[in-house]
Amino acid sequence: MTIQNNNDTLVTVFGGSGFLGRHLVRALAKRHYRIRVAVRRPDLAGHLQPLGRVGQIHAVQANVRHPGSVEAATRDADVVVNLVGILFERGRQRFDTVHAFGAEQVALAAAVHGARMVHVSAIGADEHSPAAYARAKAQGEQAVLAATPRAAIFRPSILFGPEDNFFNKFAAMARILPALPLIGGGAMRFQPVFVGDVAEAIARAVDGRANDGTIYELGGPEVRTFKQLMEYVLAVTERHRLLVPLPFPIARLQAMVLQWLPTPLLTPDQVELLKSDNVVSAEAEREGRTLRALGVEPAAMETIVPSYLWRFRKTGQFKTGRFA
Ligand SMILES: NC(=O)c1ccc[n+]([C@@H]2O[C@H](COP(=O)([O-])OP(=O)(O)OC[C@H]3O[C@@H](n4cnc5c(N)ncnc54)[C@H](OP(=O)(O)O)[C@@H]3O)[C@@H](O)[C@H]2O)c1
Repeated sequence: MTIQNNNDTLVTVFGGSGFLGRHLVRALAKRHYRIRVAVRRPDLAGHLQPLGRVGQIHAVQANVRHPGSVEAATRDADVVVNLVGILFERGRQRFDTVHAFGAEQVALAAAVHGARMVHVSAIGADEHSPAAYARAKAQGEQAVLAATPRAAIFRPSILFGPEDNFFNKFAAMARILPALPLIGGGAMRFQPVFVGDVAEAIARAVDGRANDGTIYELGGPEVRTFKQLMEYVLAVTERHRLLVPLPFPIARLQAMVLQWLPTPLLTPDQVELLKSDNVVSAEAEREGRTLRALGVEPAAMETIVPSYLWRFRKTGQFKTGRFA
């Protein structure tokens, strides 16, 4: 890759301290951008500093629910990226305040300061979805395009990578439980995508290589059912566990209890989300709104997932099993 000189370009990244954020900050730092990471707790964003040169990455305080802080974090920025998202609601962190109102505030601030806007949503964003998560994501997309019509929007399928919240979660459950649940029978389809590929796609949009006002759908090279993904987790972690089909109404009842854990294992809203496939649409493929259209060849999960799930094997890294 040619080294770019972006020393004079300031990129503000909202949500830059999260899972995807860390990979994006690294991709932007390699391209020599100046990076302002807007987070609720800048004191907890120290892990980002080693990703760039001294002084290249700067953390500021911002909460997308507070327009004044969003405006301040956006000042002088050339490009604004919004990665802020939540998986469950707590206190004032509601889907509509974070995914819809918050996304709108970021886009309005970008418009005021004449910055280019890149926004991250999710596959399944749909104003008619039974899941509040997906409805709020759709409202956020509409608000972003209304405020910044040239914005590039990215909808990833489920992300995988060393700190992911999917493979790690089920591998951890398989370590302690005798069985894994197949919610709704486990027939819904996913297209897991490597977090580094999504970060690269966003970085290309920051470079100005994405089409204006376009919603991209990002998926990996393989489509797998939930059941196949659970079988894969068990194979990689070398665990023998039952896979027990759990009808949606029973999963919903369980979720009504599990949602009150400090970090919920499952919420009723997530059960609603699991009723639909989470894959790149045929329209997005046809219209070239995909990773490959951006020049990113998606990595297969088989090449990456075993490199971090080994720690859930009984013998850790010391056994050279099928997936070592
Ligand atoms: N992970 C996936 O599989 C997946 C799939 C599809 C789409 N996405 C989308 O991709 C984006 C990034 O996901 P991720 O997995 O990286 O999530 P993550 O690790 O939970 O990171 C979310 C980020 O948002 C920040 N945040 C939350 N509430 C905020 C608020 N009110 N104001 C400012 N910042 C706030 C968090 O920082 P603090 O909480 O520390 O302030 C964190 O930096 C999200 O929009 C998500 O919906 C993710």
